Amino acid sequence: MYNYVEVDAEHLEYVTVAEVSELGNGERLIVDIDGEMIAVFNIADHYYAIGDVCSHDDGPVAEGELVDYEIACPRHGAKFDIRSGRVLTLPAIVDIPAYPVRIEGDKIQIGLPAEP
Ligand code: FES
Repeated sequence: MYNYVEVDAEHLEYVTVAEVSELGNGERLIVDIDGEMIAVFNIADHYYAIGDVCSHDDGPVAEGELVDYEIACPRHGAKFDIRSGRVLTLPAIVDIPAYPVRIEGDKIQIGLPAEP
């Protein structure tokens, strides 16, 4: 299960990744959190985060073209829903991680699975 958006808050640790002012409407930001590449999107001031590693062949999926909520991996074109990480088209067949995003004051925070 990769869709951490649906995980209860007590099983998440929120990490600050940027200031709100650093991610304008329509922009994306790719951050490295302990070696894990995660992309954060601002779509009409709603925020979404996905893992930036394509499940097909490890391509930098978050660098691809975004149409509505669908991102197309720049390597072979597999599409994913940035709200859930759900795979939408071949050649990928496995979802990618999606993370909840919250705004705390002027900080953008991503919810990562807490250590057990
Ligand atoms: S690496 Fe993303 S579609 Fe192949």
